[in-house]
Amino acid sequence: MKRVLLILVALETLAAGCVGTESKEPPIVGIRNMYQQPRYDTQEKKPFFADQRSMRPKPEGSVSREMEPALTWATGRTADDAYIMEVPAQLIAQRGGTEALVERGQDRYNIYCSPCHSYSGNGKGMVSRRADQLGAAGLVAPTFHDDRLRHVPDGQIYATITNGVRNMPGYAHNIPIDDRWAIVLYVRALQLSQARQAAATDATETERVQ
Ligand code: HEC
Repeated sequence: MKRVLLILVALETLAAGCVGTESKEPPIVGIRNMYQQPRYDTQEKKPFFADQRSMRPKPEGSVSREMEPALTWATGRTADDAYIMEVPAQLIAQRGGTEALVERGQDRYNIYCSPCHSYSGNGKGMVSRRADQLGAAGLVAPTFHDDRLRHVPDGQIYATITNGVRNMPGYAHNIPIDDRWAIVLYVRALQLSQARQAAATDATETERVQ
């Protein structure tokens, strides 16, 4: 009985000694579990690799799980770095045909592009109009209905959406790959729809210049 009492007193003193008192010593952890593990910190320099970087650069050509494995679809470019001329036929088939994809494109275009490029693609969206009023001509979006943009490859419009161009930001972060291609198809549809009108405007402008 005496011995049990002694053990109890000893335990109590131990507990009181550990909990709530201040100490400059490292804490006593009976079972270490995985509290401390050998690891590298972000940007830490370590001699393990020849270049001393603990954060390893991505091996060239590696593709993440989320990434589109067909690089032509993902970049809009062929293996020898030229823009692909047309929206990949296989992608159109996979997404239920041209009509379905154009419709999807219209939906996405109206959300993401129309604020600047306008619903008709003439470049007079609200953002452009405000930029114009403020004298920020560089932020006014161009019309799609001019000869140059009517003839650029589909891959180039896709790459414009993906990476942005000059003063236009890229939209890769919020428009998935298939939707970007859908928007390209819709931009083509807009161009077709305005082709006669644009030709008429071009003619009037030429007349005016002459
Ligand atoms: C925030 C406004 C804004 C939004 C949103 C926007 N654009 Fe633009 N876009 C611009 C501006 C500004 C330019 C002209 C960039 C320059 O020349 O500096 C431009 C240029 C372009 C061009 C011409 C590129 C070239 O080769 O000259 C295309 C094509 C285009 N945008 C397509 C799109 C599409 C498709 C979307 C929707 C996914 C979109 N843009 C969304 C502002 C915008």
